[in-house]
Amino acid sequence: MNIYNTRLDIEFVRSQFPAFSDPLCKDWSFFENAGGSYVPKNVIDKLNAFMTSTKVQPYAEYDMSKIAGENMDKALKLFAQMINAKQNEILIGGSTSINLYVLSNALKKFINKGDEVIVTNQDHEANISPWRRLKKIGAKIIEWKFDLNSHELIISDLEKLITKKTKILAVTHCSNIVGSINNLKKISELAHKNNIIVIGDGVSYAPHGLPNVKELDVDFYTFSLYKTYGPHLGLLYGKEEILKELPNENHEFLDGEYPYTINPGGSNHEELASLVGIHEYFENLYNHHFKKENLKLIDKIRKINILISTHEETIANPLLEYIDKRDDLNLIGKNKIINKNRAPTISFTSNKISSKQLSNKLVDNKIATRNDNFYAWRCLKALGITSDDGVIRLSLVHYNSLEETKNLIKIFENYI
Ligand SMILES: Cc1ncc(COP(=O)(O)O)c(C=O)c1O
Repeated sequence: MNIYNTRLDIEFVRSQFPAFSDPLCKDWSFFENAGGSYVPKNVIDKLNAFMTSTKVQPYAEYDMSKIAGENMDKALKLFAQMINAKQNEILIGGSTSINLYVLSNALKKFINKGDEVIVTNQDHEANISPWRRLKKIGAKIIEWKFDLNSHELIISDLEKLITKKTKILAVTHCSNIVGSINNLKKISELAHKNNIIVIGDGVSYAPHGLPNVKELDVDFYTFSLYKTYGPHLGLLYGKEEILKELPNENHEFLDGEYPYTINPGGSNHEELASLVGIHEYFENLYNHHFKKENLKLIDKIRKINILISTHEETIANPLLEYIDKRDDLNLIGKNKIINKNRAPTISFTSNKISSKQLSNKLVDNKIATRNDNFYAWRCLKALGITSDDGVIRLSLVHYNSLEETKNLIKIFENYI
């Protein structure tokens, strides 16, 4: 079977997400996925089961506690496999913002006065502020600015910023405003030639296909599970060789116990256990579309990723084309997805009405969206967009349908 010809069965996909038949949600088209996605029923079932039967302190010898711990460990094991990491290279914290904040404290170890840290102006603030704060310990902060014509981060611009003093580079895999996929593999290659530690923010990338962290060869990578079909948690990956060198940010007795050293407070137990449901959902997706083969989990994810991105391209390109050709709308980023060079996260403004007014019109027509700066205020500032009114963002994932896109375009034609 040619996997490129296998189409995503959208009816099957939607049947896995209870929200689509819920009385409150069912009449809406949900286009705010970059804010937070719906969850498949497997996640809800796992959460329910944990809360019903095993809501006790895990890792003791009695059955309920043993099973609680086993399910938490299972979630970690499966997620490590799905992103091609080792189990002791990932941690599940409260959010990406928290994970990056703690990581930045730990990485102070590698910063001497006068060392340089590169941040971008395309990132969400979660991957900027923690690194900019290193100024307080004497680091010099350098900004890699995106190109104002293409809205892209240009790698040759980065090359010019790197010096012998550069120690850290924090960069987004995909901006939550511009939507372009940055070539993190190439960026890591360049950084590593210069002994620079790379922190990739995958929050806007992972919902469109889980990353293979070893192929990207980043040193640290983060994404938010609540935008990737799970509960409100954040995953942080770190290369073992660096993780084990990091100082302990957790209880003193945990010295050397990485990755817990950079996960103070640990994970939310029930939510961690519910992540097994994301794996189950991906397995169901795989089994529904492909013949059962004894593939490694990462290879199944590879095939699912192609299925997802092909569908996303089909549903997002008509919308990108429509917004791009309207004279009164200003699209940010690429006007077409080709070979997954862009996520279906579509931001724009209007020349005629405010982003708030436009977003309200869409909401009146049962399109769940919003206007905001989405905490990427430096990106908006560079684009000359006020951070109060911000952009309108229509963000799609694989459970959106072509019918929803067509209906959205009709609403634009009739009301906007
Ligand atoms: C690209 C990007 N990075 C980081 C974050 C921060 O994630 P969290 O809410 O898990 O802290 C967000 C949240 O919207 C985001 O869109």
